[in-house]
Amino acid sequence: MYPVPVAGSCEFLVTSGSTMAAVEVARQMSEGARNLSLSGHVGFDSMPDQLVNKSVCQGFCFNILCVGETGLGKSTLMDTLFNTRFEGDPAAHNQPGVHIKSNNYELQESNVRLKLSIVNSVGFGDQINKEESYKSIVEFIDAQFEAYLQEELKIKRTLHSYHDSRIHACLYFIAPTGHSLKSLDLVTMKKLDSKVNIIPIIAKADSISKNELQKFKIKIMSELVSNGVQIYQFPTDDETVAEINGTMNAHLPFAVVGSTEEIKIGNKMMKARQYPWGTVQVENENHCDFVKLREMLIRVNMEDLREQTHARHYELYRRCKLEEMGFKDTDPDNKPFSLQETYEAKRNEFLGELQKKEEEMRQMFVMRVKEKESELKEAEKELHDKFDRLKKLHQDEKKKLEDKKKSLDDEINAFKQRKTAAELLQSQAQQSGSQQTLKREKERKNSGFL
Ligand code: GTP
Ligand code: MG
Repeated sequence: MYPVPVAGSCEFLVTSGSTMAAVEVARQMSEGARNLSLSGHVGFDSMPDQLVNKSVCQGFCFNILCVGETGLGKSTLMDTLFNTRFEGDPAAHNQPGVHIKSNNYELQESNVRLKLSIVNSVGFGDQINKEESYKSIVEFIDAQFEAYLQEELKIKRTLHSYHDSRIHACLYFIAPTGHSLKSLDLVTMKKLDSKVNIIPIIAKADSISKNELQKFKIKIMSELVSNGVQIYQFPTDDETVAEINGTMNAHLPFAVVGSTEEIKIGNKMMKARQYPWGTVQVENENHCDFVKLREMLIRVNMEDLREQTHARHYELYRRCKLEEMGFKDTDPDNKPFSLQETYEAKRNEFLGELQKKEEEMRQMFVMRVKEKESELKEAEKELHDKFDRLKKLHQDEKKKLEDKKKSLDDEINAFKQRKTAAELLQSQAQQSGSQQTLKREKERKNSGFL
């Protein structure tokens, strides 16, 4: 039971209906809102000021990603844009892949504080095989979205003090070749366009002639369109900036020149690049589009870039991620599906899967045991057979040996008999021999006496 305001009145209706009923009442209430005129100053016209004060107090954050080949003037342009020198160690460009380097700075202009992150894609375009060059950039952008999503999903959220590291603008530096975009540029921009606001810029525009530059710009834009690459369009829905933004959209990609060097021109110090044949003034709109870029990126559309990041790119990431996790807003019949219902459905699905898995594992276990049992039985049977075979072999061998022993015993006995008979014969022969000798001796003696 909760109180619900009745349409067009200040009374509250106590109802025991469902949330749906409450939503319906609220809808009717907003439809039936009455326009009243105030008879005196109330004060809620200070809301915009309150908002501004709160925002100024909190400070702002803005994160820029610079993508472009080595030495295209990324660091110089950042220094020129923010009128400062962002110190940073020069990156080594002999790495096997692209790596992301993020530097955080705190800037202040009047009473407005800005937390600025400048993210660089170090080593971009340095490798022989550039197929994977976009990967680490995409992974970095996703990781920032993921960190924000995790913070959002926490029970105890601290989003007001959370350091938002999502990339608000990607300055894509195009080499001033005067020909066309490189395939590396097209592939990278295509991979990034659904994740970040891409602002393409022609770097070192002082190295390309005026006529060539116009043709180059047209060529780049037609290549982006024919390859379906979505770049950031300066918004034209807010009438205060619609005209300037509309004009600037036609100037894309901006051809920029960067320099931190100040040169005296006339009686003014200006940022410029000096050459033997003349001077390129960075902030001179006849020389390059630096002022247009600064105007669009910082002075007019910084808040829109932040909003687009949250409402478009992060929203897309969040939606895909939550859908991947199984969350949905409507059921198969297109009826609203609450988080609670999703949780219950997921829980039941999970429990069902768990039970199924358990049953499968149990059956697998029983099958394995049966298999093992029959394997063991087979092995046992084989062992028995082997034992029987060996036993029979042993018995045969034993019988053979016994037969052999018997025949040998017989032979020994026969030999012994033969030996005894022979010895007997021999002794008899010896006896008769000695009798005959005695007889002959006697006869010889007798004949001698005669
Ligand atoms: P890595 O960080 O090493 O990739 O280089 P980077 O893209 O940051 O380039 P960096 O700003 O260090 O500039 C490289 C060289 O280009 C320096 O000598 C700059 O003076 C020069 N340079 C920068 N901007 C411009 C420009 O607009 N025109 C010309 N002609 N040279 C520039
Ligand atoms: Mg640099």
